[in-house]
Amino acid sequence: MQQEFKNVYISTYGCQMNVNDSERMYSLLEMNNYQEVEKPEQADLIIINSCSIREKPVHKVHSEAGLYQKLKKKNKALRIGVGGCVGQQEKKNLLKDIPYLDFVFGPDNIDDLPRILEELDEKKKVAGAKFKHQEPYHISNMVRNPGVATFVNITKGCDNFCTFCIVPFTRGRLRSRPLKDLVADINGLVARGVKEVTLLGQNVNSYDSDCGANFAKLLQTLAEDTQIQRIRYTTSHPKDFNQELVDVLAKYRTKLCDYIHLPVQSGSTEVLRRMNRVYTREEYLDKIRMIKEAIPGVSLSTDIICGFPGESDKDFEDTMTLAEEVGYETMYAFMYSPRPFTKAARYEDQVDEKVSRERLNRLLTFHKQQAFDLAKRYQDQVLEVLVESLDKRSSKGADAPRVMGRSTQNKLVHFDGDESLIGQTVKVKITETAPINFNGVRVFDSKELQQEKTS
Ligand code: SAH
Ligand code: SF4
Ligand code: F3S
Repeated sequence: MQQEFKNVYISTYGCQMNVNDSERMYSLLEMNNYQEVEKPEQADLIIINSCSIREKPVHKVHSEAGLYQKLKKKNKALRIGVGGCVGQQEKKNLLKDIPYLDFVFGPDNIDDLPRILEELDEKKKVAGAKFKHQEPYHISNMVRNPGVATFVNITKGCDNFCTFCIVPFTRGRLRSRPLKDLVADINGLVARGVKEVTLLGQNVNSYDSDCGANFAKLLQTLAEDTQIQRIRYTTSHPKDFNQELVDVLAKYRTKLCDYIHLPVQSGSTEVLRRMNRVYTREEYLDKIRMIKEAIPGVSLSTDIICGFPGESDKDFEDTMTLAEEVGYETMYAFMYSPRPFTKAARYEDQVDEKVSRERLNRLLTFHKQQAFDLAKRYQDQVLEVLVESLDKRSSKGADAPRVMGRSTQNKLVHFDGDESLIGQTVKVKITETAPINFNGVRVFDSKELQQEKTS
């Protein structure tokens, strides 16, 4: 008898952790007779995996759900749910606010998804948004078709309570996965052809395994005891970025990528204090110097908030000068957005939106030019590129097929090549630079040329 599949469509917002959570949902649902579809119109089940880091993505949940209401009129059996951080933030209130929603669940309840769907057969509405503070992810790493590069969760939750941030309230308390599970997971992924993993956590440096291993020890163990070619990690918190970690990064540089995302949030010590970031401008800059000394040529990236409550013109100038001094190759900058439950939302000296927007625009304009200038250092350099996929867009109309991959500094490099290169690390000479995307041509050293000729 032919098996009947149901169709599921997941719409994902937010950080890489949410992207990975959607993958966990798809994996679980596939085991329960669902298959992924590309369009919501084809679905029997639609999940919005939401983000509440700023007000804007929360609005998107409401507007997107509105679109799906129409589909429900055509297909009475359609089930619509909201997962992720808005699900956790609003819990069952969301079922009242959006009456045609069938279920709500939080990031800690992904494993319950099959049970929630079963319950929906009997009940009209289900809300599953209870924290499981004591448990790390109790499913092993779940990826359906991992490809060349994939994510691996190492921690969940966050205990830092930066005063602007909702994450500790939506993702709960910090928990680390055991070191031995991570080694097993990554060895398993290597056996499936994965060459690069990105270790995920809200603050990876606070990793703390049950065996006592910290983040530096985890990186060292993964570099020594697994065959993974490249390791990335995000996000790092400056307060925990120390000499021990930098020494490990320098020692295993061939595996641990030359790209560090170290969100500063502000260049003003006073604003940092009010954000509860627990480092000063000077301490942050000292850490940047320590990193640059140990890993020359490292590519640095950051997050910055403009218009945090009480931010004066002088405070903002401090952010501008810090950005100039560090020289970030990548920057994610945002206008401050007050969030429920957070301390800063109750601060009295909220900055006028117009002022915040002006500051953000100034910062982004400055950074755009700086990023173009900094990228020029790669011109004519030969980079090691791990090929991830065919580059369909730039192949269009080109004489030869093109592929794309990443350099260890997280630059996307596009060059002529075919499918057989996917998963290989090859040398590419950079011919054109922009802040993130580079064009290049493949180059061969004499030994490789010999091999190419004989193969
Ligand atoms: N765990 C990471 C960041 C998580 S959120 C860290 O500690 O850096 C990603 C980014 O969103 C943050 O770095 C911050 O710059 C931004 N962000 C968080 N809350 C915000 C808010 N209320 N308004 C504007 N930006 C915010
Ligand atoms: Fe939010 Fe701060 Fe935790 Fe990052 S470290 S997730 S900004 S509370
Ligand atoms: Fe958004 Fe939640 Fe990630 S609030 S940024 S999806 S942790």
